[in-house]
Amino acid sequence: MNNFPVVLLTIVITVLGIAIDGYNCKMVQFIFGDSLSDVGNNKYLSKSLAQASLPWYGIDFGNGLPNGRFSNGRTVADIIGDSMGLPRPPAFLDPSLTEDIIMENGVNYASGGGGILNETGSYFIQRLSLYKQIELFRGTKELIKSRVGPEEAEKFFQGARYVVALGSNDFINNYLMPVYSDSWTYNDESFITYLTETLEAQLKLLHSLGARQLMVFGLGPMGCIPLQRVLSSSGDCQDRANKLAHSFNQASTKILQDLSAKLPNASYRFGDAYDVVDDVISNPYKYGFNNSDAPCCSFYNIRPALTCIPASSLCGDRSKYVFWDEYHPSDKANELIANELIKKFGFTRAGQPNNAPSPAPAHAIAPSPDQEDY
Ligand SMILES: *[C@@H]1O[C@H](CO)[C@@H](O)[C@H](O)[C@H]1NC(C)=O
Ligand SMILES: *[C@@H]1O[C@H](CO)[C@@H](O)[C@H](O)[C@H]1NC(C)=O
Ligand SMILES: *[C@@H]1O[C@H](CO)[C@@H](O)[C@H](O)[C@H]1NC(C)=O
Repeated sequence: MNNFPVVLLTIVITVLGIAIDGYNCKMVQFIFGDSLSDVGNNKYLSKSLAQASLPWYGIDFGNGLPNGRFSNGRTVADIIGDSMGLPRPPAFLDPSLTEDIIMENGVNYASGGGGILNETGSYFIQRLSLYKQIELFRGTKELIKSRVGPEEAEKFFQGARYVVALGSNDFINNYLMPVYSDSWTYNDESFITYLTETLEAQLKLLHSLGARQLMVFGLGPMGCIPLQRVLSSSGDCQDRANKLAHSFNQASTKILQDLSAKLPNASYRFGDAYDVVDDVISNPYKYGFNNSDAPCCSFYNIRPALTCIPASSLCGDRSKYVFWDEYHPSDKANELIANELIKKFGFTRAGQPNNAPSPAPAHAIAPSPDQEDY
């Protein structure tokens, strides 16, 4: 019973803490993205064709079962959030999500197949585009507001960290695919303008909803993903797709600089890992990889394999492959990308001093989305 007084003291301090400060808001993240950041939303979009719900997705994560991530392991956002000491936000569509969980961990709205543009990825039938994700975030904010009051809610949302990581699908599953009307409505230049102006409007909208500390992850050399290479007879990277990614990154850098200067109290930053990934693809051995052009998970010699399934065969050493499947980097490559972004953003570890429990009881707020809308 020796530590009884210590326990009592801790309780007294905790209770006082609540009485004095009201809610001690934890720093959390809100993540908006596509399959590169999805942690399970698409699992709940039953008609979506963009799924990571079968083995061998997740084989190097936790218990090794599929968890909704489109990789064998962690996403770039997982790794960056970990390095900042922030909790990993759960998927918005996870039915066990509660207000308490949101206030402790934030929310991840990322959805495989989603894009900056509403029309992107329609081929996947269901996905959450960025506008939809922001609409869902607005709902989350209303919910927290009704729980803790407008002032505390504003503090909580302004103190949070925001990640926006979309854009590849706007090219790979829209502009570069002749089945989409954007591919014949625009040229390279006018499409980049349309896309980045849409992104700018969305970032302003997020600011109006409280986002102050926000980072946008740019695009890598998407013309070098295995799916793009297999489309060319030579197996080389698709130059046009790479140039588009580069132009998108340049235009976005400028937009983020302008927004950061213009929007009150905003620190909006853009970072991409284009150059380092480009170098990894040309010189995999230099970085400890052994393959930078084929997916680790593949259906024997049938390419493109499109997705990784239980009947697929895996490469011998997953940490030696840059790509996990036709579209997505492996855990090891994500680590390299994350480290490059951390360097560019110049992060230091965020403190988590306040851990006061929320006094009100939790009640589930499992969203029951009208799935036809996605
Ligand atoms: C995009 O979709 C959102 C709903 O998710 C809608 O509110 C918005 O008007 C749409 N924008 C365009 C340009 O179609
Ligand atoms: C900017 O920050 C100051 C100081 O924290 C605050 O008083 C003000 O309301 C903020 N403005 C906006 C638009 O967030
Ligand atoms: C790399 O791949 C080559 C052939 O693809 C193989 O002979 C070699 O053993 C591999 N090295 C490692 C370290 O996996």
